[in-house]
This record gives sequence, C-alpha cells and structure tokens, in this order.
Amino acid sequence: MRSQIVAGNWKMNNDLAQTEALITELKKQVKTSDAEVMIAPTFTNLYNAFEALRLDDIEVIAQNMHYASNGAYTGEINAGMLKSVGVNTVILGHSERRAYFNETDDLLAKKVNAALENDIRIIFCFGEELDDRKGDRHFDIIEGQIKNALFHLSEANWTNLVLAYEPVWAIGTGETASPEQAQEMHAFIRETVEEKYNRGLAQNVSILYGGSVKPGNAKEIFSKPDVDGGLIGGAALDAENFYAIVNAF
Ligand code: PGA
Repeated sequence: MRSQIVAGNWKMNNDLAQTEALITELKKQVKTSDAEVMIAPTFTNLYNAFEALRLDDIEVIAQNMHYASNGAYTGEINAGMLKSVGVNTVILGHSERRAYFNETDDLLAKKVNAALENDIRIIFCFGEELDDRKGDRHFDIIEGQIKNALFHLSEANWTNLVLAYEPVWAIGTGETASPEQAQEMHAFIRETVEEKYNRGLAQNVSILYGGSVKPGNAKEIFSKPDVDGGLIGGAALDAENFYAIVNAF
C-alpha cells in the first residue's frame, strides 16, 4: 500500500522566530486524515523544528542537499549533516533548484545516490514548463526527467522514493493543473515506472502533485486514483490552510 503524504515546502521563508511561531500553530491543528505530514523549513531552522516536533506527528524534512560526503564545497550541506539533526527525508529536483541553480538530471542522479546511500528518503520533483505543455511535449519531458535521474536505481531503492509531479507553470502562479490533467500525468508516470520495473513497485510508489494546491482545490485533486498527496508551497505557510489540505483526503 502506498502512503498518502502532504509535505509543506517552506522554500526561503521564515526566520527562526517565524518558524517557531508557525510550528506552534501547526501543533494546534487536528489531523483527521491518514496522510503523513511533513514540513521543510530552511536549513538553519531544521534542528529547532526537529526539536519542537519531536513528540508530534509531523516530520521535518530538508529542501535540498549536496551529493558529496564532505569536503571543499563552500556553502553546501551533506546527507550526514541532515541526519545528525534528525532529518530523514529530502526534497530533490525542485524546479526552482533546476531553474536558478542549474541542477541537471545528471547532478540530481548523484544527489539521489547520496541520499539513498545514507538511508534518506527522497521526494523527487520534476515537471514540464508551459512551453512544453503547449507544444505537447510534456509526456516526453517527464519521462526523460524520471529516466535520467532514477532509472539506474535498484528495485530496493524505490522503497525510499516518493515522486512529485510539479508542472512549472502551476508553481506559485495560482494556476493549477486540472484534477484530470494531474491524474493523466500521474497515471503516465506510474506506467513509465511499471514498464521499467514492475507493476507491484509502480503501484507502491507515492506520487504527489504540486503547484498551487490550496484548501479549495485539494480535495478534488487528491480524489484522483493516482494522486497520493501534495507538495505544498504558498499554502503551507499558514497552519490552518495547510491542515485544510492535510485533511482533504
Ligand atoms: P506552490 O508551490 O504551492 O506555492 O505553487 C509548490 C511547490 O513549489 O512545491
């Protein structure tokens, strides 16, 4: 059985005081769904967030990591550092990392390997640009992004992988893929994984949708059979909105 997951990607928002304030609000919320709940504060606040949520049902995850185990990489953070502050899951391949920090499929494959070697679960993001969709290339783009970064992995590795389809044109824009567009792509992703591996593995991998998920549209998107949850940006910065999404299953 695959898990339902709602993960809040805080991006470069919230200093320490704001992080603590939002966590206080999150702790007041009541979960009525079975979804696993995760939040991804910025690196500097991971440890405080982990400590503050030690006894709660919210996992603290990271937004990124470097592939090397250590060394002369000024400004970077490795898998061991994340684990040492209680982080066991990392978001990799977010479109903002791809667009602003030149993260390529090859680089992402290295990061994926490093995370898995350290027993860190990955939420692996990918998505097409608006031009790709308009040009009807979106299925090819998605297939390429998945194959290039993930298809060297063993079947066993996939137990630590969650996929997140995030069409770039829907991120932070207020425009969402329609529930039908999300379902169509998620079904395609599952088929692509099944063709490379097998049906059991493909059925067990959670595939999240990301891109302007809000309390008002989450229920319809999550009701689609191949959508197993969401990666939430803007709406994750407000505890009530975030939990309205968590409880939208
Ligand atoms: P958004 O961001 O919900 O603000 O569109 C989603 C994401 O980037 O993961």
